[in-house]
This record gives sequence, structure tokens and C-alpha cells, in this order.
Amino acid sequence: MSIVAISAPRQRKGELGQFLTPPPVATFMASLFGPLPDVVRLLDAGAGAGALTEAFVSRLCEKKDGVRAVEATLFELDPLIQDALSETMLNCQRVCARAGIRFTFAIHSTDFIREMSARVANDLFVTPPPTFDAAIANPPYRKISMDSPERCNLRYAGIETSNLYTGFIALILRLLVPGGQLVGITPRSFCNGPYFRNFREDFLGNLEGHRLHVFESREAAFRDDKVLQENIVFHAVKGRKQPREIVISSSSGENGDIVAKNVIPFAEVVHPHDGEKFIHIPSASGHAAAKKTMDSLHSSLASLGVSVSTGRVVDFRLKSALRREPERDTVPLVYPCHFNGGTVHWPKLEGRKPNAILNNDETRPWLVRSGVYLLTKRFTSKEERRRVVACLFDPETVKAEWLGFENHLNYFHSNGHGLDRNLAVGLFAFLNSTVVDQYFRRFSGHTQVNATDLRKLAYPDSKTLKAMGAEMKTLDLSQDELDELVEKYLHGRR
Ligand SMILES: C[S@@+](CC[C@H](N)C(=O)[O-])C[C@H]1O[C@@H](n2cnc3c(N)ncnc32)[C@H](O)[C@@H]1O
Repeated sequence: MSIVAISAPRQRKGELGQFLTPPPVATFMASLFGPLPDVVRLLDAGAGAGALTEAFVSRLCEKKDGVRAVEATLFELDPLIQDALSETMLNCQRVCARAGIRFTFAIHSTDFIREMSARVANDLFVTPPPTFDAAIANPPYRKISMDSPERCNLRYAGIETSNLYTGFIALILRLLVPGGQLVGITPRSFCNGPYFRNFREDFLGNLEGHRLHVFESREAAFRDDKVLQENIVFHAVKGRKQPREIVISSSSGENGDIVAKNVIPFAEVVHPHDGEKFIHIPSASGHAAAKKTMDSLHSSLASLGVSVSTGRVVDFRLKSALRREPERDTVPLVYPCHFNGGTVHWPKLEGRKPNAILNNDETRPWLVRSGVYLLTKRFTSKEERRRVVACLFDPETVKAEWLGFENHLNYFHSNGHGLDRNLAVGLFAFLNSTVVDQYFRRFSGHTQVNATDLRKLAYPDSKTLKAMGAEMKTLDLSQDELDELVEKYLHGRR
């Protein structure tokens, strides 16, 4: 079967979050459903040109596993794609008829969020919501601000979430009957993003995870996003008890060629005592090895007497106090652009960022006393080799009594003051290692590294970190040299 999708122009595409699923991915998604009832009530919310329902139907017709009828309900807001959607549905009808399956469909050209929020909220004046045995979804992806209509509608249904895709999934899961199945493709950001905690709770509290699939190559991230945004596919069943094990798979690209498939304890994916409910997704073998190494570490940052905070200087709030060049009564202001080969090169007068901030009563609360600090970038570019990029601030090279750390970086400190030098250099080696990078990538699909993520990592003990720091005579090591050093210490202590 093939479809001709006449989709929205580029600008509207962004507004609608319209990124159509490539056929191999749709086929793969359809293959994940388990046994279905005789008559399947299927939901396809944000249906686009119907690629997902089409793949679902193809699969049923091939499998011939006793399904007698499919009643498809499709929601699609974009009038420009409606004809293609209707055409695909008529085609599904023909294909099903040939396989002896009755296929009926209803296309709603309405806003799924608005309509279903009111119905899920059990509003007295609207009809109760429909229910479904199966849902297949590639929901639109767009941030929704606090006072947007979508957010207000969702709130009305008791759903508080900051992205359209999580809003869609939260509504869909409410429309499933117990035992109903959902196969979805979404950005991976909900797995560990701090703003998705409520959603994770909702998702994990109402859906049993059966399968998680990650696309490992960047080309497979077909959403047109500015930041690297990886997608995951999941198969989940409406219910309140997570299985003991879950299948995790990954493929190198959109063609669905699976490179790794493992059955792992669910408790490794969502740690039972994790209040944040992070969803860790191990994939390739390197990641498994990284996990083993990380599991052998038992020190928390707090037990090392170290804290990590986000840089306090939010530049647009302190605009009048910022200076392009250092001058009298200013102190250094450090941005990620000052990171250079593991150390801070300051000032950077040819750059676009200010280099200094006034040191006065107004700015002092946002400054820190100078000392040895370890800094990490909060946002890395796609080109950056690692997600965690750590850099040492050395008071010997940048002389000042006070400092400003800008908000796009995190800084490791000891009670608001600098760190022991060897400890800081040890942390530098550890955080810049491939082991940490691989471990981090298991649960983070985006390029942002928050202080919470760093706080939750397990670290080597203080003695190991200090010994590692003492051995590093220069910060300018190659990745291989640095990994070798870290592995020597981490494996030595196992
Ligand atoms: C990511 S696309 C996926 C389309 C299709 N399911 C596929 O996989 O090819 C999401 C679709 O949702 C539609 N959409 C966006 N907001 C919507 C809303 N509030 N209600 C219904 N559909 C919406 C968009 O027009 C777009 O076609």
C-alpha cells in the first residue's frame, strides 16, 4: 500500500507538529501489538495521512489471527491532509475486505486535545469519552506554554504537561480499556526531562511497559528539530502493574534493522525507589559495560561533600551590570564559550558574550568566591562528541576575588566554595570519560545536562577521585588517554 500525503506547508508543519512516519517505522510499530480482540476499536490521534492505521491494518491482514473487524477512529486537524487520509482509509477498507475483515472508520477533523479533554473530564454537558482496545500514535510535538489553550484544556482533564505529545499520550491512555494496547513513537525527552516528571508518573502508573525501542542513528531522528532529538517507540498495555521484565531493542536507522535486543529487569529501566521515575534505556553493548562499571560505584555527590548547581547569573536579568570587557569594580563572568580544552580561557574579547559583571550589592548574591570549580555545559551542540562536557576553573589562571557563573553552565562546589584541587581534577576525568557519556546516553535522549542529572549519578569515592586527580599532570589528554586513566582506577577498585 502506498499513500500520497499532501501535507501542510513548512511553517504550518511546525505549528501542527506534522512529521509523518516513514513506512518502515510504521510497519515496525504495527508489528509490536500483542493479541487483539475479535473486534478492535482502534484510535489514531493526529492521524496525518493515515500511515499508522494503514500499517496496523496491513499487519492484521497478513497475520490473520482471528480479528473479524476493525473500527478505526481518526483525529486530524489539518484540512490539507484530509483527502489523503480519506483515501488511505478507503484503501484500508479494500485491503481488509480482501482478507475477510470488516473495516469501518470515522475521521474527526477536530482538535483531539480540546475534544477529548472535555470528555475525559467527565463534563456533565458533553458525552462520555469513547473507549479503545488499541491505539497507534505519532503525536505532534510542540512545547505548550502555561496559558496556551491546549494546556488549559488538558488541565481541565487533570493533565498538567508542557508538550503536545505528552498531552496526546496522557489523553490516549485514559481512553484505553484495561488491557488496551498503545504503540507510540515520541521524542525521548520524557524519559528524563525534569519537566516530564508528572507525565512519567501518569504513564508508568497507568501503562505497563512491554517494549522500548531506540533509534541509534541521528538520521533516524526524523523530526525537524533544532536540538538533537531522538525518538523512541514503545508498546505499553493499560494496567497498573509493571512487568518483571521488558524488551529493549535498538536499531541503527529507520529501516528497522534491529542491532540489539535484550530482555532486562524492569527495575533497571525504572529504579523502584527513584522519586524522579527516570526511564533508563540501555541499548548497545558498550552501554551495558558502562552500566556495569557505574553500578560498581557507590558514592553520591553529597557523600563527597560536593554539590552541583546551575550558574546563578541569568544574563538578561542582570543586563545593566554586564560588561563586554573587564573594568574597575567588575569580576570575571564565565560562560560555556570560555571552555577551551578542559580549562577556562578568560576573557574572550573577540566573542559575542560579555566577559565581566559588576561586583556590587545588587550582583553579589549571584556571585561566588573564587576557588577551584568544576564546570559543565548545560547544553551541548549536536557536533559535540560527549554529552557531559566538563572544564576546570583554576583561580591561578583567572585571578579574581569573586566570580560570576552564567546560567548555561553547572558548577560543582563545596558548600558554595571552591573544591580541593585533586578532587576537582578527578571529577573532571570521571565526568569527561566515555563510561559516563555512555551511561548518561542510556537515559537521556537530548543534549541537555541538568544539575539534577549530575546529582543523581554515582561517583567514585573521594580517595579514588583524588588519586586520579593527582595522577593527571595535564588536563589536555586525548579521549583514549583519559579513558585509560579512569578505567585503571575504576576497575582497580572493583
Ligand atoms: C507527527 S504527525 C504524525 C502523523 C501521522 N500519525 C503519521 O505518523 O504519519 C502529527 C499529526 O497530528 C496533527 N495534529 C496536530 N495537532 C492536532 C490536534 N490538536 N488534533 C488533531 N490532530 C492534530 C498534525 O496535523 C499531524 O498531521
